[in-house]
Amino acid sequence: MSEPETILAHAARVLRGGGRLAGRRIVVTAGPTRESIDPVRVVTNRSSGKMGYRVAEVAWERGAEVVLISGPVALEPPPGAALRRVESTSDLEAAVRSELPAADVLVMAAAPADFRPSDPSSSKRSRVDGALAVPMEPTEDILGGTRELRKPGSVIVGFALETGDALAKGRAKLERKDLDFIVVNDALEPGAGFEHDTNRVAIVGRDGTPRILPLQSKREVAEAILDAVEGSLG
Ligand code: CTP
Repeated sequence: MSEPETILAHAARVLRGGGRLAGRRIVVTAGPTRESIDPVRVVTNRSSGKMGYRVAEVAWERGAEVVLISGPVALEPPPGAALRRVESTSDLEAAVRSELPAADVLVMAAAPADFRPSDPSSSKRSRVDGALAVPMEPTEDILGGTRELRKPGSVIVGFALETGDALAKGRAKLERKDLDFIVVNDALEPGAGFEHDTNRVAIVGRDGTPRILPLQSKREVAEAILDAVEGSLG
């Protein structure tokens, strides 16, 4: 980040840092994870990390203590956030496990690889050997599997990127993973989802009622998510 941008971020924290997030510890996860097929190849997904990085940036401006757990992405970390880099879904799980007990808020914007090669090869497989079938196994559900580590009263936010029937699938995930909010979007909508600078989301709380937001920048979406979080922080 350039010097003027860093100065602006510090000024924003001085001006905006008096709200409910001030002094609260927020853990944000962002980006994809990567699983090895062999020493040179990986399985990953199209997550850019932009949504999580925006949440971390705005949370810090609002006065929070920010831990950003990031998969491999090509983004500059926002000023003020403590950055923890991870590679695989199990690395991400270990980082969330260690940060969650002290977190007032968890925003799980990462897109962990849902499957990993069951038996990664220790040597590079050659193309001349012909077609390659890679048996895969599901990774652990980080949000669902770390419930017992949550600090009482903490606010937990998940994301659901779906292809069709997004609200119903999002509500089901909110219940299954025991979340306070789920940020739902449809990957098939123009301007929404991975790699874009904009997003069109609905924020769904525990009562299931969606707050449907217009197509807007990921920074504006981050502001809306953190408004919802602040509204339910004790
Ligand atoms: N998530 C997680 N652990 C995983 C995969 C996803 O904690 N192994 C989190 C994501 O960070 C996101 C939420 O769970 O906040 C929903 O992610 P999604 O991939 O849609 O959920 P899955 O549990 O993988 O559901 P499904 O594969 O059935 O769509």
